[in-house]
Amino acid sequence: MTTYTDKGEKPERGKFLRFHHVKFWVGNAKQAAVFYCDKFGLEPLAYKGLETGSREVVSHVVRQDKIIFVFESALNPGNEEMGEHLMKHGDGVKDVAFQVEDCDFLVKKAKERGAVIVKEPWIEQDSGGKVKYAVIQTYGDTTHTFVEYLGPYKGLFLPGYKEPLFRDPLLAKLPPGHLNFIDHIVGNQPDDKMVPISDWYQKCLMFHRFWSIDDKQIHTEYSALRSIVVTNYEETIKMPINEPAIGKKKSQIQEYIDYNGGPGVQHIALNTSNIIQAIVNLRARGMEFLSAPDSYYETLRQNLKRAKIKVKEDLKTLQELKILVDYDDKGYLLQIFTKPVQDRPTLFLEVIQRNNHFGFGAGNFKSLFEAIEKDQDTRGNLTVLTPERQGVPKAFY
Ligand SMILES: [Fe+2]
Repeated sequence: MTTYTDKGEKPERGKFLRFHHVKFWVGNAKQAAVFYCDKFGLEPLAYKGLETGSREVVSHVVRQDKIIFVFESALNPGNEEMGEHLMKHGDGVKDVAFQVEDCDFLVKKAKERGAVIVKEPWIEQDSGGKVKYAVIQTYGDTTHTFVEYLGPYKGLFLPGYKEPLFRDPLLAKLPPGHLNFIDHIVGNQPDDKMVPISDWYQKCLMFHRFWSIDDKQIHTEYSALRSIVVTNYEETIKMPINEPAIGKKKSQIQEYIDYNGGPGVQHIALNTSNIIQAIVNLRARGMEFLSAPDSYYETLRQNLKRAKIKVKEDLKTLQELKILVDYDDKGYLLQIFTKPVQDRPTLFLEVIQRNNHFGFGAGNFKSLFEAIEKDQDTRGNLTVLTPERQGVPKAFY
């Protein structure tokens, strides 16, 4: 595991501020939004559709504290762009939007350095205010939208969005999700693509390396992964980039790549300041999580006896809820991963609480992988790798 102290290049103008929202392209935006509201505690925030004059695409926007998800579907037959995306990837993340300062400058810089600009900067406005946007291509079919507020925005979400058509009375009766903000968003890449993609963030967006881990550290009996985390100068946006590594059986990263039809967002981590209450409530709402075996907690108890830090939370409760613990000499983090949130084994979510610890749970990757592999096996996808199979680097052919 490597942590990096060099913050790299400071943009001479402009700034990446934070994750603004995540946009999903799905088959049925209305129903997908309900799932995230019911299971995670998000609530309807805004809407765009036929009733508001949006004739081609419908958007359901849901929010919990600073977490905003936008679910979009095509309204008319023959929408090739959205149709092809759905055919290839299934329901999933289309765009990760960043709030920025000086959108024009950041786009110009990215373009000079070879980034593909999907949409040059443009402005939208309504009675709430004025917002500048631009869209830039990242890995696979995924994009980044830059969002710059040109003055204070007083509307519900962004220009053109109106009140949700319906607020489900059931939501007010459910226990709160206790989720506060997007901690990090992970992109899975095919073999050998992790370094070029993390280099792209460093070159085009002036991000820098924050943390990395290789397959010697992260492997199970069957499979392995490598990961590099890139972040903006202020370190407010964390984007881990993963790739599979050679193993005896198919890596879960490769399973993702196969079912997603290429690279894409693997998981979104949501930060909470009270993971115990959050997971009690999310479990009560019917969210399904991966389980660590009891042996994980036995080992953890032994190891914590020699640790320099003390975990404040009750270990018995953490064990009951299947929350994982990772730590170093200065702090610890608590985390748990959901099962895939659609039928394809692609996107899942993570809930994370940090206590002076800025890693990504490397100490838990092995048990996480083993839990995923158990599920992968039930899907018939923990297959033995032979040289003809995908997932084997060319060097091993
Ligand atoms: Fe994560």
